[in-house]
Amino acid sequence: ETISWEPEDAGKSGYDHYMQKEINEQPRAIRDCIRGRLSELDRTVSVDELADVDRPSTVHFIACGTSYHASLYAARLFRDRGVPAMAFHASEYNADEVPLGDETLVVAVTQSGETADTLNALREANRAGAGTLAVTNVVGSSASREADHVLYIRAGPEISVAATKTFASQQVALSMLSIALTDTSSRASVEALRALPDQIQSILDESRAKEIAESYADAEAYFFIGRGYGAPVALEGALKMKEITYKHAEGFPGGELKHGPLALVGDQTPVIAIVNGKSKAEKMLGNIKEVEARSAPVIAVTDSVDEVESYVDHVLRVPRTKPRFMPVLANVQLQLLSYWVAHRLGRSIDKPRNLAKSVTVE
Ligand code: G6P
Repeated sequence: ETISWEPEDAGKSGYDHYMQKEINEQPRAIRDCIRGRLSELDRTVSVDELADVDRPSTVHFIACGTSYHASLYAARLFRDRGVPAMAFHASEYNADEVPLGDETLVVAVTQSGETADTLNALREANRAGAGTLAVTNVVGSSASREADHVLYIRAGPEISVAATKTFASQQVALSMLSIALTDTSSRASVEALRALPDQIQSILDESRAKEIAESYADAEAYFFIGRGYGAPVALEGALKMKEITYKHAEGFPGGELKHGPLALVGDQTPVIAIVNGKSKAEKMLGNIKEVEARSAPVIAVTDSVDEVESYVDHVLRVPRTKPRFMPVLANVQLQLLSYWVAHRLGRSIDKPRNLAKSVTVE
């Protein structure tokens, strides 16, 4: 028997797809991202590249696609540390509409560093006199050259069009950024960051996402709900699902369910709920009851299995961490869920139709 090889299979290290390989590379990507940036001694973050960046009065994140979801997450991290921050779709950013000054930091989050809309917004911020920072994966990219400062996420090359490991690395890099620039106490966060690679590895080793995905691969649509830090990851879960499975998928904060999406919920629309943090979890259980009353199958992604199990059809477990990092772990389960649905449907996972890895036109 012979095994046929395409030249492009050579880099897949035995995985069926680059996406699968890259999902599995996340523990290493995060180790690389934090290497040398978490101080052993005083349990704080010290990032050389940020030595000259002052505490900003306001932060604007500008980004597209998956990087925008990382930006939503990051904006919440800054707000929690007392710095007003908001995320903008780069294509919608208008530096004239929002007060910008020397103390506003505009952060362009872009894996490739080449996305046209993000570069345009970055240029606008530069012209308006704001301090600018690029958070990117690509050394020497346009964003890295044009911003005042650059923070590399060090995820390594990502081949699959759908971003996976770079999203995880963005979340971690932006977490470190929020600690480094706000100078707030961070012992618990530093320890939690350090634990993430092993925690992700345990998810990769034990996930039941494949069997769950296979039983729902014929669904009409998928809804992803999250609250707080879980909300951006719900959006990202839906984006991944639509990119690689070509199925309708929507993500939104749990609280928005009643304001429209509930009209679409039924037995053909699995609802994937991120159940994180005590106060958020109670409200999320309320959402779960609402969709179950409409016969929707519910898949919970949670670190509180005992509290949640009896309310849902399936549980995808993640290890316990600080509530703000739980969605970083939950996202890995969502990636696997989409991957296995797409696999079951025989999709072109690494190169979905109509999509490009880097969108260099407006
Ligand atoms: C494209 C890619 C997405 C990516 C987005 C932003 O649409 O297919 O995966 O999230 O561009 O790319 P960037 O390189 O700026 O993060």
